[in-house]
Amino acid sequence: MDRPTYQSMMRGNGQLDYEIYLNTEQLLACQKEPDALCNPDELQFMIVHQIEELWMKLMANTLLDIDDEMRARNTFKALTLFRRVHICQEMMSQQLSLLETMSPKDYQEIRLLLGNGSGQESPGFRVLLKMPKELWATYVDVYLDGGKRSVEHVYDSGYTHDDAYMIAEALAEFDELFQKFRHTHMQLIYRSIGVAANSLKGRPVEILREGMKQKMFPELWQVRAEMTDRWGGTYGHKRDKLSPSETDDSDHA
Ligand code: HEM
Repeated sequence: MDRPTYQSMMRGNGQLDYEIYLNTEQLLACQKEPDALCNPDELQFMIVHQIEELWMKLMANTLLDIDDEMRARNTFKALTLFRRVHICQEMMSQQLSLLETMSPKDYQEIRLLLGNGSGQESPGFRVLLKMPKELWATYVDVYLDGGKRSVEHVYDSGYTHDDAYMIAEALAEFDELFQKFRHTHMQLIYRSIGVAANSLKGRPVEILREGMKQKMFPELWQVRAEMTDRWGGTYGHKRDKLSPSETDDSDHA
């Protein structure tokens, strides 16, 4: 195939309405020109990062809208917007797997060009780390009557699967999908540069495990643990077997 002809076609000419509206000329110029790539995988590496940055931009803007909708107590609208955020999060994790089609050697060649850049410098990621605190404050104001209602009441003693519960579950889903991204990203790191490697900032990649323990909405995880203790308290710390005659495997351990 005639590579230069096709590569020129891929750029388009920026004149058609579709190209003008979507600003394809600028968009398609955001990646290195083919002859400037260190290897063919570098194009994929750039595009995956750029797309993920765009998903994070969409998520952050949607979270601003969610905050407004929660303040107006438009619960259905807020839940629809949460679904949008969750889908973006799922795509972000799925799309990392594209980079697992890159060989370790191809990545080492690309890595030589990255300076001491780190994903922790991602503007999208930084803003997403900052927003949950304010979202929680809004949730408490609006759905927990400024703190007069407890999370325990929403989940257990006053549980009715109401608006406060649905929004709380949407927040928990956000938290969980954030962790899934971090987990999938960690596997990608192992696959690309190995388990005991250092980042380009000279830090062991294992420090990312700290973030993997972080909960955006700790109250929503704590309430489950408290319920397990409370409900578990009715049958004791360790339960008796349902069938006393059944042999417990652990007796043979
Ligand atoms: C081969 C592919 C990749 C490798 C080897 C890799 C490697 C790394 C390493 C070593 C770090 C820790 C940096 C430090 O010490 O500051 C890091 C952080 C990070 N990377 Fe990647 N990365 C890859 C792809 C991606 C992609 C596609 C994204 C998309 C957004 C991404 C987003 C991030 C983020 C957000 C962090 C900060 C994570 C946190 O603080 O929990 N990375 N990456």
